[in-house]
Amino acid sequence: MPLLLLLFFLLRFFTSFQSALSAAPFDIAYHIDCGGPTNVTDPFNTTWLADRYYTGGSTSVVSEPLHFRHPQEKTLRYFPLSSGKKNCYILPLPSGRYYFRTFTVYDNYDGKSHSPSFDASLEGTLVFSWRSPWPESLARDGAYSDLFAFVKDGEADVCFYSIATDPPVIGSLEIRQVDPLSYSAADLGDRFILVNYGRLSCGSDQWGPGFTNDVDYFGRSWQSDEELRTPNTSKIVRVVSTRESISGVNQAPNYFPMKLYQMAVTGNGVLEYEIQVDAKMDYLLWFHFAEIDSTVNKKGQRVFDVLVNEKNASRVDIFAQVGSFAAYSFSYTVHNLSSTTLSVKLVPVAGGAPIICGIENYALVPNDIATMPEQVTAMKALKDSLRVPDRMGWNGDPCAPTNWDAWEGVTCRPDINDTGLVISQIDLGSQGLKGFISDQISLLTNLVSL
Ligand SMILES: *[C@@H]1O[C@H](CO)[C@@H](O)[C@H](O)[C@H]1NC(C)=O
Ligand SMILES: *[C@@H]1O[C@H](CO)[C@@H](O)[C@H](O)[C@H]1NC(C)=O
Ligand SMILES: *[C@@H]1O[C@H](CO)[C@@H](O)[C@H](O)[C@H]1NC(C)=O
Ligand SMILES: *[C@@H]1O[C@H](CO)[C@@H](O)[C@H](O)[C@H]1NC(C)=O
Ligand SMILES: *[C@@H]1O[C@H](CO)[C@@H](O)[C@H](O)[C@H]1NC(C)=O
Ligand SMILES: *[C@@H]1O[C@H](CO)[C@@H](O)[C@H](O)[C@H]1NC(C)=O
Repeated sequence: MPLLLLLFFLLRFFTSFQSALSAAPFDIAYHIDCGGPTNVTDPFNTTWLADRYYTGGSTSVVSEPLHFRHPQEKTLRYFPLSSGKKNCYILPLPSGRYYFRTFTVYDNYDGKSHSPSFDASLEGTLVFSWRSPWPESLARDGAYSDLFAFVKDGEADVCFYSIATDPPVIGSLEIRQVDPLSYSAADLGDRFILVNYGRLSCGSDQWGPGFTNDVDYFGRSWQSDEELRTPNTSKIVRVVSTRESISGVNQAPNYFPMKLYQMAVTGNGVLEYEIQVDAKMDYLLWFHFAEIDSTVNKKGQRVFDVLVNEKNASRVDIFAQVGSFAAYSFSYTVHNLSSTTLSVKLVPVAGGAPIICGIENYALVPNDIATMPEQVTAMKALKDSLRVPDRMGWNGDPCAPTNWDAWEGVTCRPDINDTGLVISQIDLGSQGLKGFISDQISLLTNLVSL
């Protein structure tokens, strides 16, 4: 699998406090201040839990705490090699679908001026790669990354894997329950993790949880579209906004927020965006529109085609579809992208000026195969009975993701049906471990040597 691009939103300083938070339709949410010693409440009234649910590591503080706005951005947890190559946050979670968001920052917390290389996985699937040297602004200011994933085994495993001897770092971890049918799940099933490669609110600054007080039931934050406009588009673009209420928002299963449709960009001519992506993967795009210009009040007055990498995705006449001041969204999937740029073009057909409120772009990352559940149980029992030391990094799934080494001393292979991974060999000879071997070892039916 290709390395996944880092997608990040640099921190900006902003002030808006617009609407009060209201209760979300899904109740499970965790906000963990990694490295934080006490529970703290941020300016948006979110309570961050003192650091917990981690398998090891140590805590630290960024080198310039005053440069960061929120308490949860100033502290971090890092995983030196003495706690093993693989470490995790493991949280109890009922089966369901969740939004995961991490804050990652280096800011020379260790005084070594070397931003680390490491990978992150979710539920045994590689989702993010951080490669040293990080861009200067990223290392200093940090970045938020997010994704949607299903959890089916009663706990969420967010794991970090050290490349060479670099200690992985994490600043904060948020998890929120979302509608299991959101984002085309009825068609796609539960076999993919949707990794955010761009969630644009056109004509706006960054907003959403952690950035402004605007409500988004899924906890999504929305980034400005400005930097992704092509130079030609920047020349002609005009921002329009409205305070009028928009109908059809905050509805199951996606709960797209009203604010998204109260702002838009328009311009006489072709509007084009270029989004950086990783090649050879599939992407799910969502497009958001609303006719918020009251002078457009008949069908046929504003018609345009949406082209994705020069392919016609759809013809759009917002008024004909939903009328004025109403949300109109649709999705489109790009398969096996061959380039590292995804181009989205809005080409006028009638009326001259396309309009758009938002674009979301998610990589469809297929779930990696995981270790067979009964073998995971057996390995956990073995870890406890042998008191396997931290430095061996026996955390998370023993074998997955398949792009990482298995637990130290453990060899895995796919089972006969290729539906899961099984343990084929355990070699702890050089580790000087003594203890009794748990009865659960009998569950390791594919073991050929111990
Ligand atoms: C933080 O809050 C959690 C949940 O409300 C509570 O269980 C825990 O004891 C608190 N921890 C500290 C250090 O105050
Ligand atoms: C946070 O909560 C307090 C009390 O519950 C309330 O007075 C305050 O207005 C809230 N702040 C925001 C930004 O919602
Ligand atoms: C930008 O606009 C100019 C003039 O309209 C045109 O010649 C050029 O091909 C455009 N560039 C791109 C990349 O579309
Ligand atoms: C693009 O596709 C739509 C159908 O979604 C079609 O009506 C329209 O004519 C197509 N545009 C072009 C330029 O082929
Ligand atoms: C993706 O496209 C490349 C060529 O661009 C091709 O070699 C590869 O087989 C394709 N993969 C799939 C899964 O279709
Ligand atoms: C492999 O598939 C067959 C038939 O579907 C099933 O009977 C068998 O139990 C499976 N074996 C494993 C190891 O999952």
